[in-house]
Amino acid sequence: MPVDILVGTQWGDEGKGKLIDVLTRDCDMVVRFQGGNNAGHTVEIGNDKFVLHLVPSGIFRPGVSCLIGNGVVVDPVALASEMRELEKSGMDVSVIELSDKAQLIFDYHRKIDGIKEASADNGKKIGTTKRGIGPAYSDKADRCGIRGWMLKDQAKLKPAFYEQAEKYNLLFAAKGVEPIDIDAAWKIVAETAQYLAKHVSDTVISVNKAIKDGKNVLCEGAQGMLLDIDHGTYPFVTSSNTISGGACTGAGIAPTHIRDIWGVLKAYTTRVGEGPFPTELLDETGERLRRIGGEFGATTGRPRRCGWFDAVAAAYSCMVNGINKLAITKMDVLDQFEEIKICTAYELDGNKIDALPSSADELARVKPVYEIVPGWKADTTKCRDYNELPENAKKYLARIAELVDSKIAIISVGPKREQTFFA
Ligand code: GDP
Ligand code: IMO
Ligand code: MG
Repeated sequence: MPVDILVGTQWGDEGKGKLIDVLTRDCDMVVRFQGGNNAGHTVEIGNDKFVLHLVPSGIFRPGVSCLIGNGVVVDPVALASEMRELEKSGMDVSVIELSDKAQLIFDYHRKIDGIKEASADNGKKIGTTKRGIGPAYSDKADRCGIRGWMLKDQAKLKPAFYEQAEKYNLLFAAKGVEPIDIDAAWKIVAETAQYLAKHVSDTVISVNKAIKDGKNVLCEGAQGMLLDIDHGTYPFVTSSNTISGGACTGAGIAPTHIRDIWGVLKAYTTRVGEGPFPTELLDETGERLRRIGGEFGATTGRPRRCGWFDAVAAAYSCMVNGINKLAITKMDVLDQFEEIKICTAYELDGNKIDALPSSADELARVKPVYEIVPGWKADTTKCRDYNELPENAKKYLARIAELVDSKIAIISVGPKREQTFFA
């Protein structure tokens, strides 16, 4: 019966993939509900490391159904390639269902995404992943996008694809940019559609049937609350609702079915791409966090910007998401720090504030107010129980929970499944 939702509570890359993999031990179905292959969700099992972009992170648990919901924007070529790679690694991809209502991303979306980024003035660049996410969601809102069901009906897909591609080619011509080779692109799309067709279904029916049958369903968020199109640091955001509420629209699940809302929080903060980041460290400490935390984008390989834990942003995020279970990841990355800073308030133009400003300009001007706490200077990577954690690590966790006004349920001290325990 219960449906749980797991979301990123910062700017993405909090460790959602790892947590979904851990939690699906007790799940029957995982549903992605927004975003696209801008996401990079890492799951490490034994010596193998997988990075998933569209396939739900429940794929490594045999028998778990993996749904890509209507709210996701899907590059079919990227999805087919990801599924084929997983097949090669021995995974059963027959459990993957793609919503017939999901919007599709094609070459022209990716191309326009890249052009917009390249031509934007400094200060206006978003630093997107160039996967065509924004343009595909724009087409969805503009009601001219192509949806998943057409992958099963090439007689309809072909003219729709040509019509859209020709429209975009006119735009490219006007910008003096080389058009896409529509015939060549169509060949790949047609072959891909054939591969994916049997996976396309009305996932809303599948998920609601699972709920009715008493199955455990987990919704997998991508990105993080601060990248939410409504509540994030607009315009430096992605183009979907990344918050827990997005799971209802993006998977077709009524709010009455929701039980727990998991929020994944990294023990410090990172951000990829442009936009304000109050606790960013542009010094040796930031470099140290990046090095120890391996903070390089799972999708684009870009170095992630790093900084101290921002409790102001995290508290706002927990409030909007309604987080009742926190999973704190990457505690081990702080193991060797003498002292650790926590941002407990901002100073804006000389005034102390304790809420996230809605304007990106204001957020760019705030100065973090820090509380300094002692580090624990001990290896936590082998801890398998809350009681094994050093006292200062426990105090740090308790302070975070207090500041964001939620309860810690899981602690992660390394990338592997076994480096996880319930608080
Ligand atoms: P996601 O997008 O939220 O799924 O996160 P990413 O996969 O993009 O980035 C998280 C990175 O941290 C991945 O490389 C994970 O393997 C790794 N990771 C997850 N949890 C932990 C942890 O507790 N400690 C360490 N050291 N690494 C972790
Ligand atoms: P996961 O699910 C971190 C960022 C991009 C850029 C902004 C808009 O792995 O946490 P987009 O391509 O979506 O139009 O880019 O959003 N971004 C992410 N940052 N993790 C992600 O996903 C992200 N997906 C998009 O870097 O700043
Ligand atoms: Mg990621």
